[in-house]
Amino acid sequence: MAEIVTPSTKMHEIRKEIRQKFRADESELLSELVATAALSDQDKASISAKAAHLVRSVRGSSEPALMENFLAEYGLSTREGVALMCLAEALLRVPDNTTIDDLIQDKIAPHNWSKHLGNSNSFLVNASTWGLMFTGQVLEPENQGLVGTLRNIVRRLGEPVIRVAVGQAMKEMGAQFVLGRTIKEAYERGNKMIQRGYTHSFDMLGEAAMTEVDAQRYHGSYAQAIASLTPYCTKSDIRDNPGISVKLSALHPRYEVANHKEAVEALSARTLQLAMAAKAANMGFNIDAEESERLDISLDIIEKILASDQLEGWDGFGVVVQAYGKRAASTLDWLYALAERYDRKIMVRLVKGAYWDTEIKKVQVEGLSDYPVFTRKTNTDVSYIACSRKLLDMRDRIYPQFATHNAHSVAAVMHMAGSDVRSFEFQRLHGMGDTLYAVLEKEADTRCRIYAPVGQHSDLLAYLVRRLLENGANSSFVNQIVDPDIAPEEIAKDPIDQATANSSAFNDGILRPSELFGKQRINSKGWDVQDYVTLENYNKATQKFASPYEWHGLPLTPAQGTNEPKVVINPTYPDEKVGSITEATVEQTQDAISIAVEAQQRWAKTPVQERANALLKTADLMEQHSEEFFMLLRREAGKSIRDQVGEVREAVDFLRYYAKEAKHCEKETEARGVIVCISPWNFPLAIFTGQ
Ligand code: FAD
Ligand code: 2OP
Repeated sequence: MAEIVTPSTKMHEIRKEIRQKFRADESELLSELVATAALSDQDKASISAKAAHLVRSVRGSSEPALMENFLAEYGLSTREGVALMCLAEALLRVPDNTTIDDLIQDKIAPHNWSKHLGNSNSFLVNASTWGLMFTGQVLEPENQGLVGTLRNIVRRLGEPVIRVAVGQAMKEMGAQFVLGRTIKEAYERGNKMIQRGYTHSFDMLGEAAMTEVDAQRYHGSYAQAIASLTPYCTKSDIRDNPGISVKLSALHPRYEVANHKEAVEALSARTLQLAMAAKAANMGFNIDAEESERLDISLDIIEKILASDQLEGWDGFGVVVQAYGKRAASTLDWLYALAERYDRKIMVRLVKGAYWDTEIKKVQVEGLSDYPVFTRKTNTDVSYIACSRKLLDMRDRIYPQFATHNAHSVAAVMHMAGSDVRSFEFQRLHGMGDTLYAVLEKEADTRCRIYAPVGQHSDLLAYLVRRLLENGANSSFVNQIVDPDIAPEEIAKDPIDQATANSSAFNDGILRPSELFGKQRINSKGWDVQDYVTLENYNKATQKFASPYEWHGLPLTPAQGTNEPKVVINPTYPDEKVGSITEATVEQTQDAISIAVEAQQRWAKTPVQERANALLKTADLMEQHSEEFFMLLRREAGKSIRDQVGEVREAVDFLRYYAKEAKHCEKETEARGVIVCISPWNFPLAIFTGQ
């Protein structure tokens, strides 16, 4: 008998696939996506031609936004650009003036601002360069003579002035991306665009709540925002009304895998409450996509909310999917199955993803097996096209929302959508893509929504940094479009052809996590404690060291007599015995010291290579036995999984680092003494190298 595939078994199967693809091989995924995109050479050529036309129109129209020019000049490929980004990132969270002054010194003074002067077509960007150049000169280290003395005085008088000026400049930068401090203010400011046919999705600034008080505050501000927007939801078609975008991380301080049960319960209840208010107002309600480790848990929350009978008959529930993620296409399949399962119509916003830099850095720092996101921009572009194709084919249950500022991505969607251009919408961020969308407004009858952040300066930081990184990267479309040296045809080139022409799908310009320290030293192996599959493996592997397994620590020296063993208990579960520790007697300690002194002579005569190899072998052994160390750290010292992993990795890194240093020292000077302690309290392991 043929197996019946119900929507819920389908969802279950897709969830497994989503988990398998978390850090899947990039080249396999790329081939799948190219097949899904299913574009012929002719399709690709006409998309590129349309995109090149859009690029020319954007360049030919009124001057692009100040921010795009500013970031084209001060992008992340210049030292000055990086200094500015750091400054912007840091200024908003530095509370005291002394540190701000130090920061300004550090970031502004040493750079060569004058080389940017006159580069930009924009008067305002050149004016900013003058300002920064002046600031830089004011802060230069003391010069000789009269000029130097004068500068010194200006420098001393000037710091508070500079602080205020730079702070103001950063505020201006922030204001570029925020529509208003309150919904009312934002709505009024956005009214001009509404008159032109745009709608908005308002985003209350604030995310990653650290405390329950923060989470309650953000929840209150979303509730308040929905209430304030309700009078503006006057249209019967929900797509024509304003909407709201919500970040789940703002609503719970421990929205994480380790806290799965409680987070899913609390977040689905809190979010459902907001969603019901949105439903009552006939308003779209959208869940933003955040860091990759939150995707899996977010799907549980999303299902729990959507399953509620109270949302029946409402088409306004929306979810964001990030095309740069390796699980994007499968996530769309799951969302479609979800809509089928509960007989709903939902909205899905497709973005490329705003956390790329963080994702890459996190994997490298944590020594994980592979990246959860694509490593080449073209691969993300291909994924965006493939996911767009999927979404357009899901229009019976999903209202697609294509959020992009890239003319090629827009052209690809238009090409694949066919004649029904009102069955989906485009979206852009406030402060970005204005000119492209103005062109689109003239040339196509598509819907367009603007994502409009609302809130106070103090909640802006994370959002602002993402925008600065996105705009400042020279690979980004908004950066390239203002660079007259890049031909429209170049910007509009087909990403599928580019991606498949690469010798490897993985970007060799990015370090593999294990190669973070180059050829000289392997990065320690990490455990992804936010991944359900890894956690399952962790549970299986550590099980054999769970209670009643015991460890017994004894002195290794052979002296006569011994102390009584002391029982070691688990600090988390005082009834659980971990093992025992027998402390050394005075005689045993003396013996140990004599043996060590004697051994040290031999050790010092051992070739450095051999000593280094011993450290390397220890590191490898520690990694092989990490499950036992994890359990020991957990049961003896009460450490969390994250800390267990961190502790073992630190030990492994130290061992490899000192092995490398020992070899290096041998060349330059005699090796110095090194001690590595891997220490749960009672089971220390000390390693001595050098003399
Ligand atoms: P492009 O210049 O074509 O693409 C830039 C993007 O490519 C980068 O942002 C990154 O995603 C990707 N990329 C860059 N370098 C690489 C590389 N080496 N390898 C792989 N990929 C790379 N983002 C979220 O994460 N969650 C949200 O909920 C969200 N909501 C949004 C809502 C709206 C309305 C809009 C317009 C954007 C939203 N974003 C969100 C931000 C969005 O992810 C970025 O604006 C978007 O990635 C920029 O893409 P683009 O097509 O405009 O530009
Ligand atoms: C972000 O907050 C727009 O949701 C996106 O970066």
